[in-house]
Amino acid sequence: MEASHTSDNIITILFLGDVIGKPGREVVKKYLEALKQPDSAERQAIGAYPDFIVVNVENAAHGFGVTKDHIQELKTLGVDVFSGGNHTFDRKEIFEFIDQEPTLLRPANYPEGTAGQGHCFVEKNGHKLAVINVMGRVFMEPLRSPFLIAEELVQKVSTETNLILIDLHAEATAEKVAMGWYFDGRVTGLVGTHTHVQTADDRLLHKGTAYITDAGCCGPTDGVIGMDQSGVFKRMVQQLPSRFEIAGGPSAACGVVIKAEAHSGRAVDILRIRYSCT
Ligand SMILES: [Fe+2]
Ligand SMILES: [Fe+2]
Repeated sequence: MEASHTSDNIITILFLGDVIGKPGREVVKKYLEALKQPDSAERQAIGAYPDFIVVNVENAAHGFGVTKDHIQELKTLGVDVFSGGNHTFDRKEIFEFIDQEPTLLRPANYPEGTAGQGHCFVEKNGHKLAVINVMGRVFMEPLRSPFLIAEELVQKVSTETNLILIDLHAEATAEKVAMGWYFDGRVTGLVGTHTHVQTADDRLLHKGTAYITDAGCCGPTDGVIGMDQSGVFKRMVQQLPSRFEIAGGPSAACGVVIKAEAHSGRAVDILRIRYSCT
């Protein structure tokens, strides 16, 4: 990091992609604990402990959905906001707590009246961050337009803060790239999730938005986007139904760190994170 990025006027946002089951929760825990150590290589790499930590949790419960206990566990580790996607509602119990947990988001473009909400604010260290979660429509459920819903929400939250992060949970790279340019200069960061594979296109767009097509996931590295190979082979090779289980072996936590001017919300740096553990 350059020296100017450590000034008081620069805030640090850590975003981690889809947390997959227990291996994902454990690697996130190890990474966040390493970040708390001022002398650790992980902390040195990003320059400062993050002001805000946002994590996509749609796969935290054995790959499908998230439980109240997982949210509590991640909160204890320092996570501020929990975004979601097409797996958010996989566990029935979420309907019992999503409306009581304003920092647990589901995509904002679900039909009106769906439980939960697609944006929230979090205030820390004298700064207010707005997080917006929307889902793509290409090769996914035909929800309302993520562009138009995000547009409404960006206009709404901009009256309260310039620090705005969008998690676009989407399959198609073009849809994510398009939304990055569409909101360039109007949001601090636009990060993609859902494919579980980190892309190498992290960059600052021309008007000051930090962008990556996919942050990657937090979970096993030797599976097929987190799932055990054998179940996937049964479905893909033999064309038979099979139950997917979380893969074993080593794990990695993937995401990005965004540095931004606190007042303007303009991003000044984006750094890809890939923390591995056995
Ligand atoms: Fe996912
Ligand atoms: Fe997903």
